[in-house]
Amino acid sequence: MILDGKAVSNKILENLKNKIEENNIKANLVVILVGDNPASQVYVRNKKLTAEKIGIKSTVIELPVTTTEEELLNIIRALNNDDKVTGILVQLPLPTHIDKNKVVQVISPKKDVDGFSPENVGKLAIGLEPYYYPATPQGILMLLDEYNIPLEGVDALVIGRSNIVGRPMAQMLLKRNATVTIAHSYTKNLEEKIKTADIVVSAVGHKVVRCKMVNKNSVIVDVGIFRDSNGKLTGDVDFAVVSPSVKYITPVPGGVGPMTIASLMYNASKVYH
Ligand code: GUN
Repeated sequence: MILDGKAVSNKILENLKNKIEENNIKANLVVILVGDNPASQVYVRNKKLTAEKIGIKSTVIELPVTTTEEELLNIIRALNNDDKVTGILVQLPLPTHIDKNKVVQVISPKKDVDGFSPENVGKLAIGLEPYYYPATPQGILMLLDEYNIPLEGVDALVIGRSNIVGRPMAQMLLKRNATVTIAHSYTKNLEEKIKTADIVVSAVGHKVVRCKMVNKNSVIVDVGIFRDSNGKLTGDVDFAVVSPSVKYITPVPGGVGPMTIASLMYNASKVYH
């Protein structure tokens, strides 16, 4: 069965729109884009358009690739101090001369809608409630919850250990009482681990999940999105071959991508003062 991220995302956005209107929520999201990465430009435009559609004010600050780290940090500091700004998102990746770790340390945790700041990451790691959970793993859990897929006590395999997806996904699954394994480029016997997992979340950016590795009760969540050698958008999972052999699977596109946007909008609609 397909986990329809597009449909669930639309439903969440519709509910958020109503909530924002009914409660007169004054959310104001500032998205910072440094440089001219074409994929980032598309993502940023999408975030702004979606925010505006549901009643969240959104401004994009476009900065040239020559922006220095200090200039960027100063812009963030000014936004931290601006009471009218309720959310700050710095689109990644950043140009190589800017250290993203410095950037996430400067964003105020109460405006850190990505959930990447050390305070939010640390709270998640010690079992406290962060101001915001990272959008992609939070969106994945929203999708699994929508289909009533149980997490308690299940064997969950997270493939990839990025700060954006893998690590927070593992923490959030642990918080939901899953038994979590994190696999990465040094992991042995990955095929066997995929085969025996109840839930597989793959976030590596190349084809790692193929037919013979899965089982008929598997839930497969594909976070990967890239273009194959024919220029076609694809994910980490060989969808055509794997989908008939598992219980649930997310498509690419139309699975995790739209859920990430809905989840980010959920974060952006949360206002702390
Ligand atoms: N680039 C890819 N994914 C993300 C994300 O979740 N947040 C930000 N800020 N940049 C990204």
